[in-house]
Amino acid sequence: MTIAQPASSQPFLLIRNLVKEFDGVRAVNDISLAIDKGEIFALLGSSGCGKSTLLRMLAGFETPTAGAIELAGQDLVGVPPYERPVNMMFQSYALFPHLTVWDNVAFGLRRDGLPKAAIAERVDQMLALVQLGAYAKRKPHQLSGGQQQRVALARSLAKRPQLLLLDEPLGALDKKLREQTQMELVNIIEQVGVTCVMVTHDQDEAMSMATRIAVMSEGRILQVGAPGEIYETPNCRFVADFIGTANMFNGHVRVDQPDHVVVETAECRHYVSHGISGTNNMPVSVAVRPEKIALQRQMPGVEQRASAAEDGYNCVAGEIVNVSYFGSETHYQVRMAQGGILKVARTNAARHEEARMERGQHVVAWWDGSDIVVLTH
Ligand SMILES: Nc1ncnc2c1ncn2[C@@H]1O[C@H](COP(=O)(O)OP(=O)(O)O)[C@@H](O)[C@H]1O
Ligand SMILES: [Mg+2]
Repeated sequence: MTIAQPASSQPFLLIRNLVKEFDGVRAVNDISLAIDKGEIFALLGSSGCGKSTLLRMLAGFETPTAGAIELAGQDLVGVPPYERPVNMMFQSYALFPHLTVWDNVAFGLRRDGLPKAAIAERVDQMLALVQLGAYAKRKPHQLSGGQQQRVALARSLAKRPQLLLLDEPLGALDKKLREQTQMELVNIIEQVGVTCVMVTHDQDEAMSMATRIAVMSEGRILQVGAPGEIYETPNCRFVADFIGTANMFNGHVRVDQPDHVVVETAECRHYVSHGISGTNNMPVSVAVRPEKIALQRQMPGVEQRASAAEDGYNCVAGEIVNVSYFGSETHYQVRMAQGGILKVARTNAARHEEARMERGQHVVAWWDGSDIVVLTH
């Protein structure tokens, strides 16, 4: 039996060759994106890379220098912000300090001239959604940071926008509260079913909340993918280094086969158990994540390792020069023979590690050929 495929539909939000220049400098440099209905899409990048400028063009607060924005097939460029089916929540929340929680949420609805009864129903519904019904009569300063954030969210959702824009939505919260609020925020967005584009410089936030992430640098998008794709198969050195932690080795391709390649670097020979689009002797970088690396104490006369790769490959010797214990895991820094530092992360699955490793110990570190990412640019 064949299952009928749905006809490929237009993406919900389409951004085409978008450019924004300030005094001749390109803050957003030729960005194209297609975002589906119901996605939580994150723009991730360090400060100044153009995230907010892109978001502000979606909201209508900035006019693009060039390019197009279409929402559900409708051209948005030229449509003023208040006429777009779009709402933006700011990092500062921008709540009115003199208005109650209830009136803050009602504000936009009143301005739109909705009937009183409809406003009341909508506001109560929104406050229930963010679990602040009991706080309706309070003023913003009588709320915690997390509660203020939820009022701002309720206000942004009250007009039932088709597109919700969040600029560093949890930036004002401390770490513990942030993690809890990330999940709440995702739950609420999914309940409402609104499509969301969020901006963040915090990769944990992007990874835990987003369906897909665009990694930005200097006004451009380097890679778009699901969190797992971006982490496990970064497409360039910048993304590999920016997302999480990567051990990066620089060298040359020495064997180039369809099903495997060998990369030679100063530290070791890397047996990569997949082909790459490259040529023999081309310069490449090899990236290995710290948690993919196994560690064992060097013991003279004892068989050292049982890796899937052939012996002599994907393996370095070194000395532990730093140990950081985080409870759930321990991070090791291993100085390799050539002087470089290898970062290794091990999970503390058992309470009593029978062979705890300490600073000064000599170790062998190895990794699997399938855990290597080869980067050509
Ligand atoms: N209104 C503006 N006038 C001039 N330059 C601006 C303006 N807004 C942003 N920029 C510049 O554009 C670049 C990108 O800024 P922004 O989009 O705020 O970055 P991000 O949100 O990623 O931190 C920065 O170099 C910033 O100084
Ligand atoms: Mg910003």
